[in-house]
Amino acid sequence: MRTPSDVVAAAGARAGSGSGAEDGYRAAIELRGVVKSFDGHAVLRGLDLAIRPGESLTIMGGSGTGKSVLLRLIIGLLKPEAGQILLEGQDIVPLPERELLRVRRKVGLVFQGSALFDSLSVGENVAYALREHTERDEAAIRARVREVLDLVGLNAVEQMDPAGLSGGMRKRVAVARAIALPPRILLYDEPTTGLDPSNVEKVIELILDLKGKLGVTSVVVTHDMASALKVSDRLALLHEGRIAAVGTPEEVQATHDSLIRDFMIGRVEG
Ligand SMILES: Nc1ncnc2c1ncn2[C@@H]1O[C@H](COP(=O)(O)OP(=O)(O)O)[C@@H](O)[C@H]1O
Ligand SMILES: [Mg+2]
Repeated sequence: MRTPSDVVAAAGARAGSGSGAEDGYRAAIELRGVVKSFDGHAVLRGLDLAIRPGESLTIMGGSGTGKSVLLRLIIGLLKPEAGQILLEGQDIVPLPERELLRVRRKVGLVFQGSALFDSLSVGENVAYALREHTERDEAAIRARVREVLDLVGLNAVEQMDPAGLSGGMRKRVAVARAIALPPRILLYDEPTTGLDPSNVEKVIELILDLKGKLGVTSVVVTHDMASALKVSDRLALLHEGRIAAVGTPEEVQATHDSLIRDFMIGRVEG
């Protein structure tokens, strides 16, 4: 397990500007000194984190530590008071809303609790971003909707009402909606929370499958340690507004760091 300073320093060096990388960046997502407060309460207090292209990184942390806020910052739904948020090398913090819309095309977010539009059919939920962000005709939209529903293992549900689906199926629809465009970065906010064990397993398989098929960079927020160990290349612990530790599943399981151990033991029973 690495301490935050050496991990962040190493990640920063790898992801640094002027690195000479052919594509101009080394990190898919990089947060530098990010500060975010609400009503005078600092939630993120100078957070540094670099996530490599194609990496699957899990963010863990207690309730209310700012995990959902972190995802909303990455997709540009919130702005920090200080710091930089680089997506594929571009700092999105100074961007006006019009340009943020363009950035959001490459980032899919699976919201905590799925957040489907219950007034729209499953098919229209999945089609939402395609209608919003592209000029595709109706036939192309329908074909793409079928394609992504197929990718998440759902078929013949397009006409259905989301309210009539099980929690596990709703989650799959939420994932299908997030990948419709398709994204280069996929963010999942507590994708297994509230699901029964067989659906937890299916969602985990889906996340792993999409990582393989789409080659996306994924960030997964979860309380579920068992799932985290399965889907992650690395795990990061958010604590007191900063990334307190980052490591591979092996490093996390072998660590003697009391903060990590306490957190993991506290999470074993979910
Ligand atoms: N839009 C908002 N307005 C005010 N406070 C917020 C807002 N979003 C989040 N917060 C506060 O920020 C803190 C972190 O929230 P959140 O990121 O949702 O936590 P979690 O780690 O459980 O996902 C909480 O104290 C929450 O009340
Ligand atoms: Mg949350």
